[in-house]
Amino acid sequence: MSQEQQKEYKRLLVTSALPYANGPIHLGHLAGAYLPADVYVRYQRLKKRDVVYICGTDEHGVPIAIAAEKAGVTPQQIVDKYWADHYDTFTRFGMSFDHFSRTSAPMQHRTAADFFKVIHDKGFLVERAIEQFYCEKCARFLADRFVEGECPRCHRPGARGDQCEACGSSLEQTELIHPYCKVCGGTPVLRQTRHLFLKLNEFQPLLEKWLADKGEWKENVLNYVRGWFQEGLGERAVTRDLSWGIKVPVAGYEEKVIYVWFEAPIGYISATKEWAEKKGRPEAWKEYWLQPDTKLVHFIGKDNIVFHAVIWPAMLMGHGGFVLPADIPANEFLNLQGEKLSTSRNYAVWLGDYLNKFPADPLRYYLAVNAPETRDADFIWEDFQGRNNSELADILGNFINRTLTFARKQFGGAVPERGVLDGLDEQMVRTLAEAPEKIGALLEGYELRKAAAALIDVARFANKYFNDQEPWRTARENRAKCATTIHLAIQACQTLAVLMEPILPFSAEKVWAMLGQPGSVNDQVWDGCGSRQMAAGHLLGQEQILFTKIEESQIRPEVERLRAISEALKAASAGAEVPAEKADSEAPARAAAVGAGQPAAAAGPAAQGNPSAAAAEKPRITYDEFAKVDLRVARVVKAEKVEKADKLLRLELEVGSEMRQIVAGVAKHYTPEEMTGRTIIIVANLQPAVIRGIESNGMLLAAEDGQGRMAILSPQGEIDSGAKVK
Ligand code: MF3
Ligand code: ZN
Repeated sequence: MSQEQQKEYKRLLVTSALPYANGPIHLGHLAGAYLPADVYVRYQRLKKRDVVYICGTDEHGVPIAIAAEKAGVTPQQIVDKYWADHYDTFTRFGMSFDHFSRTSAPMQHRTAADFFKVIHDKGFLVERAIEQFYCEKCARFLADRFVEGECPRCHRPGARGDQCEACGSSLEQTELIHPYCKVCGGTPVLRQTRHLFLKLNEFQPLLEKWLADKGEWKENVLNYVRGWFQEGLGERAVTRDLSWGIKVPVAGYEEKVIYVWFEAPIGYISATKEWAEKKGRPEAWKEYWLQPDTKLVHFIGKDNIVFHAVIWPAMLMGHGGFVLPADIPANEFLNLQGEKLSTSRNYAVWLGDYLNKFPADPLRYYLAVNAPETRDADFIWEDFQGRNNSELADILGNFINRTLTFARKQFGGAVPERGVLDGLDEQMVRTLAEAPEKIGALLEGYELRKAAAALIDVARFANKYFNDQEPWRTARENRAKCATTIHLAIQACQTLAVLMEPILPFSAEKVWAMLGQPGSVNDQVWDGCGSRQMAAGHLLGQEQILFTKIEESQIRPEVERLRAISEALKAASAGAEVPAEKADSEAPARAAAVGAGQPAAAAGPAAQGNPSAAAAEKPRITYDEFAKVDLRVARVVKAEKVEKADKLLRLELEVGSEMRQIVAGVAKHYTPEEMTGRTIIIVANLQPAVIRGIESNGMLLAAEDGQGRMAILSPQGEIDSGAKVK
């Protein structure tokens, strides 16, 4: 256990990355920095911990200034619109911020300017004269994305002044080939300007020391940061020649603004100040920001890692007095129907649109059970529908409904007496008693996927308990036994209501009301919620539908809309690779440098012969040659990591009546838990090989694309292991 975990924290300050106020919220946002934080915070509140949850919109920066110019409105009008839009859709989705602020707020202007001044006066900034592009027609310097051109590395068009998103290179704007002004299209000229640079290099030793005991942090975050350290931190400009933003509080800099990425995280502080004022305790923010027994947790997406794990801590250290982040659980990205999300091409699912058609909870559940925790995840409408129907409706909802309906019919809608327990009853009691701690530990460790699955497991167990006890039979033959069964089943509903709350807050509240419980499920206590008995005679409330099945006809239009966009794109680019785009963001220069976001080269048998090289490049073979390959269906009985080989898993397979072992290079993409029970395809007649001292007798089939994704091949539908594939 790291020092961080052992430290006894008195209070938590949790943040979600401040979304840019220049476009609506989509599912990619939710899966990365929002849903995981909200679930964590709701859980902490049920644990009765002192927690404040802060967010707000990020309202400065070049893309917003450009959007305003193009639309012929002021930047303030744009951010006002999107602040309200974000606040509204987040609320409908059940985000439970204690405060949702914005970086154009007066409090932020004061706080950021003061912060900047302290850093400046302490000597952490240095002035540098540089050459920058200037558009004579627009009469201004072209900061960051105001200038575009051809990438000097990959030669694709549309590279931005700070980064080429097509190849991931970070750029100096003066390197662009054929640069043009993003607003008027004119060719800019070079002019001298001055900027203040943060001497980030001076912080490297301190940062490395600070991060040394963060071994418990997520691997993707640590990898990125190590990559940055390896390259060596350099000076970074923290002022810009722009008019939209927070004025630089230094003499001679009146015409410039603070760089948006320097200023935005200070928004976490100013928002906490506003929260304290709202609470009528204006000094309360200090407890959270200045007391070392505060646990500060920043939830972000992976493109924000360097800013939160390197630059922001350096700023906090330079300023002095503030707590440093205790954890930065960054998530990977969410793809959509197997392809990269693109907001500028409308290849996205917008939260507002979603909520006009479906309730929030099924999406919260799906994004939790399918969270991009350790690698990119995929939002698939059909999968969303399937999980809603089979897990939420058929398991969780069905159990609660059948229990309460039964209680109404057989016991007049009151909780019956609990009598003598049999073995099954005792198992039920134990399962409920153990659930809060088990699921709690997962939530504490940001393991949303496993926590969501464990929640459904409790309901699955309860359903089985109901079936096995056959209360419809004991109702006639043994009333006391029937009463005990239903008593425990109702207790299970009560436990589930509390356990559901972080992930499924709207449904949890419904269950609470259905149980005839007073108050809100939010006021309950997590610890011991599985052991609290319901009083016999307590009157239950009204039953309500918890989860409605989603019809194929409801998702078809969504799937078709996305397919049409994707096909149009492919036709337009006619084979040429479409540069990846994150149009609504300020490019995190160099963010693509190193780390978990990079395609992990697969090793071992699964990856022999570089699967990403086009298959058609190999010479044609005859059918007879192909027929030499003995492909078989196999079932993974057991999977485990191979020691000191982070890419390898050892798999025990059932192939018909035979058991065999293979070593597969899939560990970067699949956990042993995810592999166990899977049906896969193997090459059964490959020469055995010894990999890391372990014999590998066969090779599994997997596909890998240019984006570092890997997918294991599995048969569609039921099939016996050992079956031939041809
Ligand atoms: N607006 C940024 C993004 O969406 C996140 C800013 S987080 C903050 O990528 F800390 F800087 F506020
Ligand atoms: Zn111009």
